[in-house]
Amino acid sequence: MSATSPVRPVLPPDIRARKGGEPLVVLTAYSTPMARLVDAHCDIALVGDSLGMVIHGLPSTLGVTLEMMILHGRAVMRGCQKAMVVIDMPFGSYEEDPQQAFRNASRLMAETGAPAVKLEGGVHMAETIAFLTARGVPVMAHVGLTPQSVNTLGGYKVVGRADEAAKVMADAKAVEAAGAFSVVLEKVPQGLAARITSALSIPTIGIGAGVACDGQVLVVDDMLGLFTDFRPKFVKRYAELGKTADAAIAAYAAEVRNCSFPADEHAFPDEVPVKK
Ligand code: KIV
Repeated sequence: MSATSPVRPVLPPDIRARKGGEPLVVLTAYSTPMARLVDAHCDIALVGDSLGMVIHGLPSTLGVTLEMMILHGRAVMRGCQKAMVVIDMPFGSYEEDPQQAFRNASRLMAETGAPAVKLEGGVHMAETIAFLTARGVPVMAHVGLTPQSVNTLGGYKVVGRADEAAKVMADAKAVEAAGAFSVVLEKVPQGLAARITSALSIPTIGIGAGVACDGQVLVVDDMLGLFTDFRPKFVKRYAELGKTADAAIAAYAAEVRNCSFPADEHAFPDEVPVKK
């Protein structure tokens, strides 16, 4: 793109229109430098509430606040020109009633400039999704394993085997009917994810839900090998940046201790060199 033709960012209707087309590429991002990298290759940069664990060292996403999402949302917006930025609504910011959800979703959008939010829940969140979309808040829904409900689900389990399949299907259909422009399917068995993808007219974005989904999302620090506290089966490591960083920091520490860093080339001479 040249300097005279500004890049138009991807918007929710563009994502909706990609149903059944080339798979949507989604990664999380929490900072400006990572957002720049994601922007160059992805359709969507998701400011996931996974940042609570990945960036802030929390034990789950439950301690993430609206202020944290706004801070990281702004940073990611600064790094994205093309990719659509979607910001997670944190636990406790939308479940009470549609009015609370609108108040906080509109804050997320107004204070970051992001064009869409994501929230967890199916049938029981349909009324809220309809309320938001009718008032100018595009919603990406999230069903299957919903990490904010880890305590009621009893762990980060696969959701949708046997009798649970009909419930996950009903959740996906309910968020579509409520106006969501896409839906994340997390840790849903791949056959069920394929059936949901065929049944819906909005794109499904899978994480641990198999290849039949209309797109895929991963936590960027997981796939880069930067966040290694735990490793779900669905994470493919495309790099081992954690190991690379560890080796680099170890080399720096050794060089500081043996006084081989800084060398003359990293220091400033007392006299300004005369240019010839
Ligand atoms: O918080 C997050 O990063 C997410 C994705 C894993 C879908 O919700």
